Amino acid sequence: MYILRTENVTMKFGGLVAVSDFNLEIKHNEIVGLIGPNGAGKTTAFNIITGQYTPTEGFVFFNNEDITTCSPYEITRLGIARTFQNIRLFKDMTVLDNVLVGNHLRLRSPLLSSVLRSPRYRKEERHMIQKSFNLLRDLGLDDVLYEKAYSLPYGKQRRLEIARALATDPKVILLDEPAAGMNPQESIELMNFIHEIREKFDLTILLIEHTMQVVMGVCERIYVLDHGVTIAQGTPEEIQNNPKVIEAYLGVN
Ligand SMILES: Nc1ncnc2c1ncn2[C@@H]1O[C@H](COP(=O)(O)OP(=O)(O)OP(=O)(O)O)[C@@H](O)[C@H]1O
Ligand SMILES: [Mg+2]
Repeated sequence: MYILRTENVTMKFGGLVAVSDFNLEIKHNEIVGLIGPNGAGKTTAFNIITGQYTPTEGFVFFNNEDITTCSPYEITRLGIARTFQNIRLFKDMTVLDNVLVGNHLRLRSPLLSSVLRSPRYRKEERHMIQKSFNLLRDLGLDDVLYEKAYSLPYGKQRRLEIARALATDPKVILLDEPAAGMNPQESIELMNFIHEIREKFDLTILLIEHTMQVVMGVCERIYVLDHGVTIAQGTPEEIQNNPKVIEAYLGVN
């Protein structure tokens, strides 16, 4: 039984096949990597899973439910969250507010009761703020709660983006190059952090990453894309020794 699965997914943009016959199978609680050279189709695969794109062919299943044509909002509600290759925070909002925005998705009160600030709404709101505080503490961001997002150092912005994704109570989280722009020390911290959130929030994690130290250190299984085609899959050790992968990265023919 897979928590997330794609079946023969193909994405064409005009004449370009960005992703070709992609078959991903992820079990609950796994940490899986998606790697490949620039333009291999990794972010496109994320955009398909999270509903930004409907694939030209094929299907996406979450807990065996067909989500191929669901909207990004519906997919987030079902329990898949993501971060972006280029950090997308509300830069002028505080750290706390960025996380509260993520939380809002789970509010149950009808809109009218929020306008009237009914007791039920206020109770939910208090709960939400407490939850956001806890999350930011867990992620080591409680010393910057009221700082504007743009003023944070890069590593903390990446963490904040993960915090906001976690605020939607996901079961699966997709991280698009979480270590991009990080120094080696921050990358090591990120690896520990990914393991921690997996345990703490009972998550399943799919991550795109170019930093090989992170990919090999954190992932249990890896898929390799090249020009949209899955050229290999396996354990970090199998991937590192796979001639096709070495060829794709070094451009040797
Ligand atoms: N909306 C789009 N319209 C047209 N072409 C697109 C679109 N999105 C992606 N592509 C193309 O699809 C291919 C795969 O792009 P994608 O962004 O998925 O690669 P990637 O593996 O994430 O690369 P990188 O490592 O550079 O982030 C590229 O050739 C890209 O130009
Ligand atoms: Mg990309």
